[in-house]
Amino acid sequence: MAHPVVNAEYLEEIEKARRDLRALISSKGCAPIMLRLAWHDAGTYDAKTKTGGPNGSIRLKEEYSHAANAGLKIAIDLLEPVKAKHPKVTYADIYQLAGVVAVEITGGPTIQFNPGRKDSSVCPEEGRLPDANGASETGASHLREVFYRMGLSDKDIVALSGGHTLGMAHQERSGFKGSWTKDPLKFDNSYFVELLEGEKKELLKLPTDKALLEDEVFRSYVQLYAEDEDAFFKHYAESHKKLSELGFTPP
Ligand code: HEM
Repeated sequence: MAHPVVNAEYLEEIEKARRDLRALISSKGCAPIMLRLAWHDAGTYDAKTKTGGPNGSIRLKEEYSHAANAGLKIAIDLLEPVKAKHPKVTYADIYQLAGVVAVEITGGPTIQFNPGRKDSSVCPEEGRLPDANGASETGASHLREVFYRMGLSDKDIVALSGGHTLGMAHQERSGFKGSWTKDPLKFDNSYFVELLEGEKKELLKLPTDKALLEDEVFRSYVQLYAEDEDAFFKHYAESHKKLSELGFTPP
């Protein structure tokens, strides 16, 4: 499929879709799963082969059926009416715009959004997204392996992990259960504050979350973000923009 033509008309449709997404996401309270959808479409990117990435391929059964994507069909279906109303806008753009809007309307930073992603019908092989159990290696080396493959940095790994300020794990989807923070519909730096405070029976910490404390470089960012929410918001907005544009050069 070709790149959409990003002219004045396309930009106008993007702004209309943005408004529809704000209304949908706030009325359904579905910001967390929208952020997870955007991240899972983008996070398959492989910088070496230039495959995967934010190209809408997660809309296809072959990909949303991957174990890591359990539950995301709900978000895909919620976005269908937005796509139907703005057919010119690609799935890839709608999914990334939904991620940006999810962060914004829950109180997070504004993330710059450049439209023009093209849709792909080629799904990446299963296994490119991180494994919450950190596979067989140490959690930190597993995270580095996966995020470096995308072309992202240590700072991006920690800042983006702060996305777990939103939402919760569901037993029947991932085998984990519970939220990372006390207010899973508010985007703030509480994920890092809670991480430093250690285990609490009512809050969740995945092995890969705890790995951020075990590595010196990761831990220094965790400490910075727990102390300084402005620093977290600034870095998060930069890293999220990078994630949303992996393999994509805005026209
Ligand atoms: C949920 C793993 C990074 C955003 C989850 C769940 C797991 C997981 C196991 C629970 C899914 C469920 O049971 O419903 C990981 C691992 C990561 C990672 C291993 C590696 C660092 C990220 C990133 C973001 C993100 C980078 C966004 C920037 C979310 C959100 C949810 C979630 C918002 C909640 C979804 C909901 O409430 O339905 N993640 N994740 N995660 N993840 Fe991550």
